[in-house]
Amino acid sequence: MIFVRTTSALATKAVAAALAELARPGDLLLLAGDLGAGKTAFTQGFGAALGIDELITSPTFTLVNTYEGRLELNHLDVYRLEALSEVLDLGVPEMLDDGGVTVIEWGDAVAPALPADYLEIRFSYPGEQDPDDVRVLELIPVGPRWSARLRAIATAVAEWIYEPNGGN
Ligand SMILES: Nc1ncnc2c1ncn2[C@@H]1O[C@H](COP(=O)(O)OP(=O)(O)O)[C@@H](O)[C@H]1O
Ligand SMILES: [Mg+2]
Repeated sequence: MIFVRTTSALATKAVAAALAELARPGDLLLLAGDLGAGKTAFTQGFGAALGIDELITSPTFTLVNTYEGRLELNHLDVYRLEALSEVLDLGVPEMLDDGGVTVIEWGDAVAPALPADYLEIRFSYPGEQDPDDVRVLELIPVGPRWSARLRAIATAVAEWIYEPNGGN
């Protein structure tokens, strides 16, 4: 896994943009982390790098928002508990077969029901001594698709790489 550290929403969007350059049709990204951790900000940066100029907002009531870009982006949010079963009904595996890229906020909740082939990103808040705008993103490739790109990921986000234990 790879840790990155950002000090602004803009930087989180830049990390997302760097990852979007590696995106391929059928990719799945699961974003995990508390409210306000930066999952939507990440998705905005990711979408912008795919050439989407529409404003990306959380699909709270619509369940899934689809945007046209270099690759199609399906953006889901399973924040509402009821959304969990609804998302499962949507048929995410079929959605992936459509050739777009799918990003699911609170995706860790649905992970057990999805193909085990995705990039999980865990967002966390800084330690108490850090400024409020610091976030740590843990990038965890699960399955062959993203594991095969681990080096490429590390290169893409090199600017923000962070070693939680000071590299020890
Ligand atoms: N390093 C950072 N990365 C992402 N967002 C940040 C960062 N620092 C501050 N923020 C702010 O935190 C909030 C993140 O909100 P949002 O992306 O909607 O979170 P989530 O979708 O996880 O609930 C935004 O107001 C954003 O400006
Ligand atoms: Mg959100």
